[in-house]
Amino acid sequence: MSHYIVQPAAGVSGTVRVPGDKSISHRALMLGGIADGVTEVRGFLESEDCLATMKAMRALGVSIDQTGAAGAREVRIQGVGLHGLKGAGHALDMGNSGTAMRLMTGLLAGQQFDSELIGDASLMKRPMERAAVPLRKMGARIRTLEGKPPVQIAGGASLSGIRYDLPVASAQVKSAVLLAGLYARGATTVIEPAVTRDHTERMLLGFGCAVEAVKGVVTVEPPARLNACSLDVPGDFSSSAFFLVAGAISTGSGFAGSSFVIRGVGINPTRTGLLDILALMGADLRLINHRSAGAEPVADIEVHPAKLRGITVPGHLVPLAIDEFPALFVAAACAEGETLVTGAEELRVKESDRIAVMERGLKALGVDCEATPDGMRIRGKPAGAAFSGGRIDSDGDHRIAMSFTVASLRAAAAIQIDDVANVATSFPGFVATARGAGLNVAEHT
Ligand code: S3P
Repeated sequence: MSHYIVQPAAGVSGTVRVPGDKSISHRALMLGGIADGVTEVRGFLESEDCLATMKAMRALGVSIDQTGAAGAREVRIQGVGLHGLKGAGHALDMGNSGTAMRLMTGLLAGQQFDSELIGDASLMKRPMERAAVPLRKMGARIRTLEGKPPVQIAGGASLSGIRYDLPVASAQVKSAVLLAGLYARGATTVIEPAVTRDHTERMLLGFGCAVEAVKGVVTVEPPARLNACSLDVPGDFSSSAFFLVAGAISTGSGFAGSSFVIRGVGINPTRTGLLDILALMGADLRLINHRSAGAEPVADIEVHPAKLRGITVPGHLVPLAIDEFPALFVAAACAEGETLVTGAEELRVKESDRIAVMERGLKALGVDCEATPDGMRIRGKPAGAAFSGGRIDSDGDHRIAMSFTVASLRAAAAIQIDDVANVATSFPGFVATARGAGLNVAEHT
């Protein structure tokens, strides 16, 4: 099993670029696949998760080419039209990706053929009824195994639009329902209990589909067709999170006045809760060079080291930072005083139980913390080394592996991080990017 050995380093400096946005890359493949015409995608994330979606769309009859040199890769999707997908004839393997599985469940619910979705050991344990329940209300015929994959979707169902109050703040469930809504009779409305990422809504508009979103009430009208378009994928804010924290907790002499810049990051406000949380903790972050990549706002983010203080994380920011808590917990361990996170029980059903796995890892490095059912309490150590050296089991969770890599900036000795192969599900090239910024990480297989 591959692992990282991370030696202590003083800080990060210079400029980094993070790979394309994972959520947007999945959606580009799905919508491009059912559009009329050729959709060109620049900046597509060629990570294992998105490649699983690509393979699935190909198996459903969509021709997809990857062109261009490394760093400027382009994906061309020959859309087959709303009603042009064909049954794969075998189970579609969504790998490690909950997004791929839940969104594909929505997309496949209104098709004429049967489908089955499976995944890796982590994905096979994750809850799928949250997507199946509203889709069944629309008329879909979906089976799960005690709420978990395999997900079996019977073809030929006739779907009707519904008005659905989401019981959990989940962009994946919202998106699954909206995608099924493309095939339904009448309008489909989803009401969100809290703001979640809105990439599906933005992208549907770009493909010429009527979507209305007002104060957490999102309605899609079934379109006659989707029109292929050209898409630019911004850098993934969630991948930038590790470097935002790294920049904030850098301490070595020479870093105090230096700047560290992460270029070309998507700053869709439904994703950037971590910026607000870090700002409340006293971090020195500046957004510069604002621009847009199609429907998505983009900026460079400049980070300076700062003395962080513990806070109670405001509840409304939790869904806006849902993938960033592993990195935030590392920042909290370097802050003065206590940080309290509540209302984040969703972390227990991510790629790993991120509350339990982070608590175990932080404790292995000597951090004073305790997990609660829906969050974590962390008492930080602002001066000197916040972490001892030690050995961490990432439980195969990419974001946990990358978060503990960043902890090395405030560690007294080397950290070994086990089971890191899944970093490639979201951030291919992480080790090289991290080393380029100043982290002393090496992968051993
Ligand atoms: C995602 C939504 C979030 C997030 C995941 C990606 C998406 O999941 O954690 O990494 O692309 O829609 P939930 O919708 O389950 O919160």
